[in-house]
Amino acid sequence: MYPDEFPRNAWYVAARSAEIEQGRMLPRFLLGDPVLLYRTQDGTPVAMVDRCVHRQMPLSLGRLRGDNVECGYHGLTYTPTGACVRIPGSTRVSDKVRVQTFPLVEGDGLVWIWMGDPDQARPAQIPDHHWYTADGWSTAAGTLHMDARAQLLNENLLDLSHLSFLHPESIDSPEIAELPITTTWDDHTVTVRREMAGVSCPPFFTRVTGIDSPIDRQQIAEFFAPAFHITTTTVKPSGDPDDSRMCRQKTMHAITPETRTTTHYFWSVSRDYAVGDDSVTDYTLSAVAGVFEQDIAACEAIEHIIAAWEPSYPLELNIKVDAGPLRSRRILEKLLAAEGAAAGARPQDRFTDTATRAAARAWTERATILSG
Ligand code: FES
Ligand SMILES: [Fe+2]
Repeated sequence: MYPDEFPRNAWYVAARSAEIEQGRMLPRFLLGDPVLLYRTQDGTPVAMVDRCVHRQMPLSLGRLRGDNVECGYHGLTYTPTGACVRIPGSTRVSDKVRVQTFPLVEGDGLVWIWMGDPDQARPAQIPDHHWYTADGWSTAAGTLHMDARAQLLNENLLDLSHLSFLHPESIDSPEIAELPITTTWDDHTVTVRREMAGVSCPPFFTRVTGIDSPIDRQQIAEFFAPAFHITTTTVKPSGDPDDSRMCRQKTMHAITPETRTTTHYFWSVSRDYAVGDDSVTDYTLSAVAGVFEQDIAACEAIEHIIAAWEPSYPLELNIKVDAGPLRSRRILEKLLAAEGAAAGARPQDRFTDTATRAAARAWTERATILSG
């Protein structure tokens, strides 16, 4: 059934770059751990465990002092490397007093975090997503939250036959679900392709490209385990030999577990048509967020079913369109098995999901009270 665990030795998106603002602290649960994100004065992003080593106060409830973080309870102060440099009332601070920090890589509009074994962190493993900021493309982007496990979204994005039933009024060509797919994979990726000739132009694409005749449409759903997807869509008037009329869209989905059963959903849609047209960007922002909220609603409904009844119900039925989703499960199982064998129990096993979910929910409320 659906895994609710996640590998730690992997790059996950911690935030869109725009979310970490200079001079502000951004608390965020990631992979079941409380994390504080902020920028130093030169703009470098920092991630540290959001927990003071003294009495466990979240550091995000304290203050930024230049590049350092001062705890808001008794004033212990930490540098961006996690070293404690001040304990009020003590003249000397041991080198051993520190909070854990995490490797970050920022590029093309995203901030990636590595929360596993730091010696295994290789920035070259981060998937390409240069369209987000590249010349010749315009991008709309947002961040959503889902009360459901991350794998539900991974599988949603690898089976786009759901467009005909979940999004019929926006991005569907009604022929999609009946047209065949080809699925390929390796140890870390899954790719599902669907070629569609002479199909109906979805209302969304008519609105943003002006095409209102049948189209030739291609969909390529690429999954980069454990948590990143690029969906490539091309549309052009059916049978038009002129490729200059082809419209390309690269949709990025970064699926980062907040807890075992809650998820951050970072997304962007980059397009090579109507470049620089703010009205198309604004429409894309609202239309695509609406589509993704439908996906989230479906996944949350399934999560409720799983939470209430699994495993007392019979196993799921698998059909042809499940080739991609099932392959993603196999890859995740392998990654989890490799980590389990190497490290024993993974850190997230310390937490009960109920407690972690409650803490994640309370985080923002506390911040509001203490900031007055
Ligand atoms: S809890 Fe942070 S200084 Fe006491
Ligand atoms: Fe969807």
